[in-house]
Amino acid sequence: MDRAPLPPGIEPAELAWHDGVPESIRFGDVYFSPDNGLEETRYVFLQHNQLPERFAQIPEGGNFVIAENGFGTGLNFLAAWQAWQRHAPAHAATLHFVSVERFPLTHEDLARALAKWPELAALADELLLHYPPLVRGVHRLVLAGGQVRLTLFFGDITDAWQSLDFQADAWFLDGFAPSRNPDMWLENIINKIRAHSRPGTTLATFTSVGRIRRALMEAGFRMEKTVGYGRKRDMLKGVLVSENPAPTEQQESIAIIGAGVAGCALARNLADRGYPVTLIDAHGPGTAASGNAQGALYVKLGVEFNDQTELALTSLTFAQRFYHNWRDQHWHPTGLLQLAHNPQEADRQRRFLQRNDYPRSIFYPVTREQASALTGVPTESGGLWFPGSGWLEPAHLCKELANHPLISTLFHSEVNNLRRSAGTWSISTENNRSITADRVVICSGHLSPELIPTKGRFRLKAIRGQVSHLPATALRGPTAVICGNRYLNPALGEFAVTGATFDLRDNNPSPTVESHNENIDELGSMLPAVFSNESNALRGEELNGRVAFRCTTHDYQPVAGPVFDGETGDLDSLYLLTGLGSKGLTYAPLLAEYLGDLLTGQPPCLPANLAKRLETRRLYQTNVVVS
Ligand SMILES: Cc1cc2nc3c(=O)[nH]c(=O)nc-3n(C[C@H](O)[C@H](O)[C@H](O)COP(=O)(O)OP(=O)(O)OC[C@H]3O[C@@H](n4cnc5c(N)ncnc54)[C@H](O)[C@@H]3O)c2cc1C
Ligand SMILES: C[S@@+](CC[C@H](N)C(=O)[O-])C[C@H]1O[C@@H](n2cnc3c(N)ncnc32)[C@H](O)[C@@H]1O
Repeated sequence: MDRAPLPPGIEPAELAWHDGVPESIRFGDVYFSPDNGLEETRYVFLQHNQLPERFAQIPEGGNFVIAENGFGTGLNFLAAWQAWQRHAPAHAATLHFVSVERFPLTHEDLARALAKWPELAALADELLLHYPPLVRGVHRLVLAGGQVRLTLFFGDITDAWQSLDFQADAWFLDGFAPSRNPDMWLENIINKIRAHSRPGTTLATFTSVGRIRRALMEAGFRMEKTVGYGRKRDMLKGVLVSENPAPTEQQESIAIIGAGVAGCALARNLADRGYPVTLIDAHGPGTAASGNAQGALYVKLGVEFNDQTELALTSLTFAQRFYHNWRDQHWHPTGLLQLAHNPQEADRQRRFLQRNDYPRSIFYPVTREQASALTGVPTESGGLWFPGSGWLEPAHLCKELANHPLISTLFHSEVNNLRRSAGTWSISTENNRSITADRVVICSGHLSPELIPTKGRFRLKAIRGQVSHLPATALRGPTAVICGNRYLNPALGEFAVTGATFDLRDNNPSPTVESHNENIDELGSMLPAVFSNESNALRGEELNGRVAFRCTTHDYQPVAGPVFDGETGDLDSLYLLTGLGSKGLTYAPLLAEYLGDLLTGQPPCLPANLAKRLETRRLYQTNVVVS
């Protein structure tokens, strides 16, 4: 009997191969036709959903959503992407492809299956570069410079269509044959397909089974049997009929207050989708918490695989894909060691490894000897090695993200008033600038609460942190990031950033000698061998460094979504993205993608449980004084 893997692992597909055509051993059926799978896909799914014609009509900043039952080898996805390249208009527009897979192919099998299609090689290579690790949950892949967005749910179809929020323009119903794969064709799945469709949504499927045709008709689709591909006699196509036409989206003006990593990632996200934005900051991009010379890309994955852990994991893997665009510029994927730096952490890591099953591409346990070899510093213990992680140059990254023709910047302008009147937001700044916007996103870090114009209070607090710049000559390595009770990055030129202090109830904005000494002492106890002989005299008085304030929520989880106003519920024109705590570099890319989805009315990249985890409502309190 099959044993389900420990979370967050998922069973991969087991395949048999016949002349390059994969067959599922579990279902006893092939993934695509041995005759000419690519032509069959084009005929059944592209042609019978009229995709070339419909793609050509997408307006500027618009999008088209394809949903698919069964991702398999990704052949249908690549064929749709290729059609998008050929037929979509020249202006900015997005193809969304939402698919589900209960038994994903391994990276190796996917490469082997797609090698059959030389004309899709460039697209297949990009898919393979970003193909997510085999862990349950939702993976958003941003491809073709953002023109194509793939939302891949690894898990069962019932859960997928329950927890994802989207409206498809076209469906590819591509389970294995209904007799072999009945779960994909159940009535409740057909009802979900209906629920995720809108007037005019089309569908196509290779099957012509009468029961399925009738169920789709009962759900409201006008169905038609038509000639199948090659030797297959029939296939089905359908359209959801309705009296009421689907509403068309209006492009509204958007302003973002705060140009840290959160605001810059969001501005860039929207601009890449063809949405103009105004980015406002009291100083400039990457000048507050996001202004450090170096920062580590790390998360602490919980012993229990709960929503919090899922959010951290999804953020980490998304961030690694996102930063790949800046590899060797502002992103340095050197690998990262989470050191078992004391008995408690060693015990936590032991329990964590017993209860979970993560692919090695995310992390794997290493001995003390391996840890020392991987980081170039003799360590006192082993730990967890994250091969795809590393360190960033956040200040530079922010500047780069904010540099886009569709981003208008208003820097050195501190917002002192945010007011809603006559259906728009008026934003006034200290230097007497005034702009209006239909929608506003507050990304102002620890100063966000001062800007939220609601009667209640939000449970957000500022936590001081100081990093120290250690002279490279005082260190032996490291060649990779090492995290424990402090983190240490590989040197960037003449110094390496270590940090950071965590100073509750301290609002001193200047670096102090005490904080430098604390950083040196903590690093010394975690990694005694890291200091070279010349560093005997390493003293806080002689170090440079930097202070900034993290923005943290009461539950230490980030917040992203419409602002909750106790009286009216969620506001539809005011959003908040903050509370990134000590892990802003990891959370910001995914949460910017999520808000980008919400603001453009495109399918959200997060399932319902994670979207709920991020809600502003959980922070809202009436008349409570925040400590
Ligand atoms: C010392 C230290 C070390 C850290 N190290 C790491 C690390 O290694 N890895 C990691 O992932 N995270 C790290 N963090 C956390 C990370 O830096 C933050 O989570 C992240 O930078 C927060 O980004 P943000 O955009 O939300 O806020 P910020 O970067 O603080 O940006 C907020 C912006 O809003 C602007 N603003 C505020 N009010 C107004 C207003 N009224 N009008 C106009 N503009 C306004 C500010 O000028 C600022 O530019 C560290 C934090 C600190 C303090
Ligand atoms: C015919 S294949 C899909 C082929 C795919 N569209 C392609 O382009 O290669 C059907 C897929 O549905 C998946 N599947 C079967 N049962 C499922 C379920 N209950 N939930 C999600 N996926 C399922 C199978 O693992 C298989 O990959």
